Amino acid sequence: MSAPGPASRLLITGGAGFIGSCYVRDVLARRDGTRITVLDKLTYAGNRANLAPVEADSEQAARFSFVRGDIADPEVVGPLVAEADAVVNFAAESHVDRSILDPTAFLRTGVDGVHVLLEAVRRETERAPAGGRRAEPRFLQVSTDEVYGSVAAGFSREGDPLAPRSPYAAAKAAGELLARSYHVTYGLDVVITRGANTYGPYHHPEKLIPLFVTNALDDRALPLYGDGMQVRDWLYVADHAGAIDHVLRRGTAGEVYNVPGSHPVPNRDVVAQLLARLGKPWSLVRFVEDRPGHDRRYAMDGAKLASLGWTNRVAFADGLAGTIDWFRANEAWWRAARSGEWDAYYERQYAGRLASADAVPADVAPGAQAAADAEAVPADAEAVPADVAPGGNLAEKEA
Ligand code: NAD
Ligand code: DAU
Repeated sequence: MSAPGPASRLLITGGAGFIGSCYVRDVLARRDGTRITVLDKLTYAGNRANLAPVEADSEQAARFSFVRGDIADPEVVGPLVAEADAVVNFAAESHVDRSILDPTAFLRTGVDGVHVLLEAVRRETERAPAGGRRAEPRFLQVSTDEVYGSVAAGFSREGDPLAPRSPYAAAKAAGELLARSYHVTYGLDVVITRGANTYGPYHHPEKLIPLFVTNALDDRALPLYGDGMQVRDWLYVADHAGAIDHVLRRGTAGEVYNVPGSHPVPNRDVVAQLLARLGKPWSLVRFVEDRPGHDRRYAMDGAKLASLGWTNRVAFADGLAGTIDWFRANEAWWRAARSGEWDAYYERQYAGRLASADAVPADVAPGAQAAADAEAVPADAEAVPADVAPGGNLAEKEA
């Protein structure tokens, strides 16, 4: 087993997406000699523009190459893995709502694609002892807190049972279980990360924060699912990418590492904060029909990652403010992301919901009324535990 050091050759699959491109930009910006090849299919979510800062810097561009292709295609994957010291797999269909509309691509990339990558890593692992290559490649599978399912109380630990509840989460669970099985059965050097809800610059506008920021900038309605009291633990994208790199370099083969955020908070409060930063009114919010099977709460224990020496750096208030400023300054980027198939998707996902949405009752506006809002959860909804009330701090919760 050998974790990659500086000046290694990394194959980054899905490296033109939101988190993968942050990883590529941040690692190359260290100028430590690391060489990166990105393999990306450039689905609707993949964007070469996310890698423009790398390609515009001649020193970084010399250590970077891009291949457009599918991780489920063995002909493309084989030669790239043969050249790599490590593979970090970010590639996935990543949006829960789209997995509900049609799970097919989620399974193709999340299960078949991961299988193709693992077979290529297995071939290279078998070549190493015979001197066919300098060391066995390490494989890092980027997974998600959604594999634990909805967590009514407390914090998920890495050994907890997996209980995915959407096609997206089930595909992610399948991918990481397959990766772990290749470690156990064939001795592959596999590590797995389970990240929390990530936000930041270059986030595709289909997701909550960028959707609401870009809609609000255009004074369009903000479709908040259900009662808006679902809790997500927000993780700044550079912290997520940094944690993944930390596990790649220091993680123990065969192990899984939670990557929690630093701000568990109900969606309503996130929306209130972003509207305040934008100077836009709460009256833009529409409470719409809920996501089917909507997970009520995610929360992970980060002790195992902390014991490897990793801590998040960006507080939510700072990260959110910087993210909103980035979207304000990069209108061309997000307008391009909201083109092509966007209108058809938006119509399918939101037209019916928005048409039948009630106007927002004044008494559920958040801010000073956040505590009162927490009381306003419908009778059939799970209660939000008191320890994840707005303003809660994960670090202060039970370990
Ligand atoms: P994203 O949708 O922004 O990017 C995914 C990238 O993968 C895109 O560039 C896309 O073109 C590429 N891709 C998709 N299918 C491919 C295929 N078959 N072959 C090659 N490339 C393909 O996603 P993201 O938000 O950056 O998430 C990256 C990874 O992190 C995913 O595995 C996701 O499950 C995981 N994750 C995301 C979050 C989050 O909050 N965004 C949190 C935890 C884990
Ligand atoms: O928790 C990690 C996961 O976070 C990742 O594995 C996924 O790839 C990533 O997409 C994200 O999943 P979520 O479903 O939590 O993120 P999303 O931004 O879609 O939704 C966040 C919350 O906001 C969720 O409770 C649903 C709600 N929501 C979302 C949208 C898009 C709304 O209320 N309205 C919306 O229009």
